[in-house]
Amino acid sequence: MGTNMQLVWGLVALFCFHRTASRTEALIMTEPAEVNNQTSATLSCNLTNPASDIKGHYWSRSGKIIQDTKSTSSSPHTHYTITKIDFHSAGIYACVFLTDPPVEETIEVRIPPHVSAYKHSENSNENDMASLMCISHGYPLPTDWKWYKLGKTPTDAKMFIINGTEKYRIRSTPNNSTLYIENLDINEDMGEYECIGENDLGRHMDKIHLRVRSRLAALWPFLGIVAEVIILITIIFIYEKRRKPDEINDDDDSGSAPLKSNAATNHKDKNVRQRNSN
Ligand SMILES: *[C@@H]1O[C@H](CO)[C@@H](O)[C@H](O)[C@H]1NC(C)=O
Ligand SMILES: *[C@@H]1O[C@H](CO)[C@@H](O)[C@H](O)[C@H]1NC(C)=O
Ligand SMILES: *[C@@H]1O[C@H](CO)[C@@H](O)[C@H](O)[C@H]1NC(C)=O
Ligand SMILES: *[C@@H]1O[C@H](CO)[C@@H](O)[C@H](O)[C@H]1NC(C)=O
Ligand SMILES: *[C@@H]1O[C@H](CO)[C@@H](O)[C@H](O)[C@H]1NC(C)=O
Repeated sequence: MGTNMQLVWGLVALFCFHRTASRTEALIMTEPAEVNNQTSATLSCNLTNPASDIKGHYWSRSGKIIQDTKSTSSSPHTHYTITKIDFHSAGIYACVFLTDPPVEETIEVRIPPHVSAYKHSENSNENDMASLMCISHGYPLPTDWKWYKLGKTPTDAKMFIINGTEKYRIRSTPNNSTLYIENLDINEDMGEYECIGENDLGRHMDKIHLRVRSRLAALWPFLGIVAEVIILITIIFIYEKRRKPDEINDDDDSGSAPLKSNAATNHKDKNVRQRNSN
């Protein structure tokens, strides 16, 4: 029993020692803790109890070193100013102190989503399937995507599209969302669609115009060629028909044509001779 108590007290002592030791470990205080929905910000870090001499520090964004923040200063303080916070510059920032081992602390710079259509205009044939895609950049990416079909006029109500209903399917990842519309109908499905990306800071949307072509439309160039050929054949046919009497005339010279035709061509011959003498 006594040895058990000794063991317990020993463990308690060890635990307390460990806690005290960790309390004197290197610590980085950040200011602010995070940046939400701002247009600019200055991030700063203070290092206390460094494990060794500070040989420098730098900042990183989403794991990539920001080159011009590299410094060999031994100061335990560093700050970085983001002059314009947008979907390019939002992300997870970290200040890194070059001690042995290096220590770092992160500050999240968060903005509402930025959403844009992959293509603002899509063309498909009727009965085919259309896929409309929106993509998002920035940090954090949308936690939710929504799709609407807009009405034919601005005053018409827009229709919320539910995944898996009727002809619609939606596939979303944080980066992008795709709306699939099956068995396209010219009257029903042609028009304006809206995609919305949402995170806890806000929402942003973009629009895509879908054009549905008639299957017949694909035939028009072919029909055009057919019409051209028919017209050409007709012209050639008419031309040949008008040339016909001369040919018959040639045959007449061999003396085998009927009398009536003979008279007509003789008459014509006379005209030709008269024209020649003029
Ligand atoms: C860092 O230290 C400076 C000066 O000691 C102080 O003014 C600043 O508020 C501190 N910053 C943080 C994030 O603790
Ligand atoms: C839509 O429904 C399909 C099938 O049920 C599912 O696999 C997909 O993840 C759903 N998409 C979204 C965005 O919920
Ligand atoms: C999608 O998002 C993830 C996480 O942000 C990123 O690592 C990946 O590169 C993105 N993919 C594309 C194709 O943009
Ligand atoms: C859409 O997101 C997925 C998953 O992140 C990615 O694999 C794909 O490449 C993205 N597509 C485009 C066009 O960005
Ligand atoms: C973020 O800022 C925008 C515009 O400045 C504002 O409309 C929106 O309500 C803000 N969101 C939050 C969560 O504060």
